[in-house]
Amino acid sequence: MALSVVDTEYLKQIDRARRDLRALISNKNCAPIMLRLAWHDAGTYDVTTKTGGPNGSIRNEEESNHGSNNGLKIAIDFCETVKARCPKISYADLYQLAGVVAVEVTGGPTVDFVPGRKDSMISPKEGRLPNASKGAQHLRDIFYRMNLSDKDIVALSGGHTLGRAHPERSGFDGPWTKDPLKFDNSYFIELLNGESEGLLRLPTDKVLVEDPVFRPLVNLYAKDEEEFFKQYAISHKKLSELGFIDPKSSCAVDKSEGVVLAQSAVGIAVAAAVVVLSYLYEVRKKMK
Ligand code: HEM
Repeated sequence: MALSVVDTEYLKQIDRARRDLRALISNKNCAPIMLRLAWHDAGTYDVTTKTGGPNGSIRNEEESNHGSNNGLKIAIDFCETVKARCPKISYADLYQLAGVVAVEVTGGPTVDFVPGRKDSMISPKEGRLPNASKGAQHLRDIFYRMNLSDKDIVALSGGHTLGRAHPERSGFDGPWTKDPLKFDNSYFIELLNGESEGLLRLPTDKVLVEDPVFRPLVNLYAKDEEEFFKQYAISHKKLSELGFIDPKSSCAVDKSEGVVLAQSAVGIAVAAAVVVLSYLYEVRKKMK
């Protein structure tokens, strides 16, 4: 992914976008759909081919028309009002910032946000996001493809503490929790309560209590909201930075192989070679 220029003006516009998003989200009560937008832009990442990810491509009609993105045009259009006032920032940054602000203003943890994502007009083929009717293996297939872990799967599923399903969008209906505009650990508490009147359980939610690796994490997060918030903030940041190289750092961390690609090392090696060669040249000149 190429780098974009994050200069003082860019950072000023990020601050303005953050303030505008806070106001927009409180005015429209749209935190849930803004979080879902951020997740669906990022969740197409494929660590093997380094395609998809948080690159703003969800705004392309081709991608926003994917079945799994039904309804997200609403959030894309909300973001346009912010983009108009902060034209310098990329859509990729804007959508991820919207997700971070949505969690923050509904009472969730602060998720660290690093700007500099580059936009892409290339949309991945349909089918990279999870299918809610499937089971644990499917969840793992999808999240491992993004280079995310079992811990990330459970913590990020806690994002369903916000919002609801809409029959005309997904075919499912209802909220996961009693207060779908408050970010807390009630998703996990309700999940352990079994069938609750009027609350939603997707098949992919149910597997979290059935799977031997997922279940202890559900228990932990239901009991200890602080633990949930801590892990959620880590997992959300990872999701929001899939395939992203922080332009401020000269090191590209390829989390897929745990390899640290020191771009600066190449520069240092070249500079060292130049110094050595000019020294040898001088020596040879003196010997002549
Ligand atoms: C684990 C796999 C996941 C599946 C199968 C899944 C599936 C769904 C489905 C079917 C809906 C209902 C859409 C509608 O009818 O409006 C939904 C909504 C939502 N999802 Fe997920 N989701 C998953 C993971 C996530 C993650 C990782 C996040 C964020 C961290 C997230 C955040 C949301 C939010 C906030 C809504 C509510 C949107 C609204 O109220 O308009 N989901 N999800």
